[in-house]
Amino acid sequence: MKIAVVGLGFVGLSLTSVLAAKGYDIIGIDIDEQKCNKMINGISPFFEPELEKTLQNGLKKKLKISTDFSLITNCDFIFVTVGTPQNANGSIDLSTIKKAISSIGQKISKSKKKPIIFIKSTVIPGTIKKVILPILEKKSNKKAGKEFGLISNPEFLQESSAIKDTEFPHVIVLGSSDTKSVQKAKKLFLKLHPNVPIISTNHQTAEMIKYANNSFLATKISFINQLSNICQKIPGANIDDVGKAIGLDPRIGKLFLNAGPGYGGSCLPKDMKALINFANISGINPSLLNAVEEVNTKQLEEIIQITKQKFGNLTAKKITILGTAFKPNTDDIRDSVAVELIKKLLKKKAKITIHDPKAIKNTRKIFKEKISYAKTIEDALTQSQCAIIMTQWKQYEKLSNNQFKYMTKRFVIDCRRMLVKKQLDIDYYAIGLGK
Ligand code: UGA
Repeated sequence: MKIAVVGLGFVGLSLTSVLAAKGYDIIGIDIDEQKCNKMINGISPFFEPELEKTLQNGLKKKLKISTDFSLITNCDFIFVTVGTPQNANGSIDLSTIKKAISSIGQKISKSKKKPIIFIKSTVIPGTIKKVILPILEKKSNKKAGKEFGLISNPEFLQESSAIKDTEFPHVIVLGSSDTKSVQKAKKLFLKLHPNVPIISTNHQTAEMIKYANNSFLATKISFINQLSNICQKIPGANIDDVGKAIGLDPRIGKLFLNAGPGYGGSCLPKDMKALINFANISGINPSLLNAVEEVNTKQLEEIIQITKQKFGNLTAKKITILGTAFKPNTDDIRDSVAVELIKKLLKKKAKITIHDPKAIKNTRKIFKEKISYAKTIEDALTQSQCAIIMTQWKQYEKLSNNQFKYMTKRFVIDCRRMLVKKQLDIDYYAIGLGK
């Protein structure tokens, strides 16, 4: 059995590495030659815990990484994991996936097998049927269902736990009405992930499941963020205790109830916008989804408001941002709330210094010389008038008076309530705590 994965980003490289480490005969394909060269040498182009080790294990076995699409010609299973970035109006840009699908179509035209193509990329309901299937049939000159299988197979892994999530998914969704291909796919997944529930449905429902999943997660976050703002107005109230208690109700569940500065990353904001756009086009007023987005955008304003209340004018105020990655254990800053905050503070002429254990290089690509970059937390805090903890990096839990003493004004805004239980000689303000 030969497997190909097309598109080696977070999802594709995690899948490729995990399958390769298990000993599967697998080819990872990406159009970026530089990236491929790194991966061939066992280097991941981005930071993800356990990924490099898993990739290197795979390379010792049967893994091949290449830019050459013709290697997929005789594969039994082809996973498509290319990105579907956002257009200005919130819709998704299908140009990359269309190109990848065209190349796959051309290559499978010569295949003697009946390959099954899994679409893992996030696409709006109807895309597989209306866009992907026609391209594949045209380019391959073959019929879906007869000469190749086409299955929607959305991915639910989270960055920072991508390897674990790839090995132990909570669900497998298979969307296709081609029962023979679905049967074959079920066999593969049962072997890979015994005991994981498989939801078998049609293309469009599978595509919708992905958006339902991410938009529900975003809803949970905006819900707890709005409640945290209310808690701030109740002296002594604590949003973490509220989250902990309601999370024990099995109907609610404990995850994604951590109040903070709003959700970011390359998925939740993009998928929310795409779903809102799709609902509007379909004649449905997405009032709840709009509210979720609005709460998310306003959360950042809350933080700016706090700094304004303290300082009035922010011109030349030295502000330290602790954490620019969109969450801990990643170097990814795509759609990071911290990056948005820095942009807004720069507009108000504040002087920004940042610290992040992994994301400095990526942050520098955006802000270049406009802000300062500190290697240590102490350097970041030196002569600062305000520190804002944005990302829940473990390192920040250990912050102490020894480090805050370097600040000229020890005003600290803790968006993740990491220092709540500490006795510190600082002017402390935490999101979700009533003063
Ligand atoms: C998200 C989903 O969680 C995955 O299931 C999905 O597969 C992925 O998008 C995707 O579509 O590819 P990810 O983007 O890695 O995963 O990030 P999350 O862990 O969901 O975090 C998103 C944002 O929400 C972060 O900014 C995080 O800080 C924030 N968040 C999360 C909170 O503020 N509070 C929480 O309780 C949880």
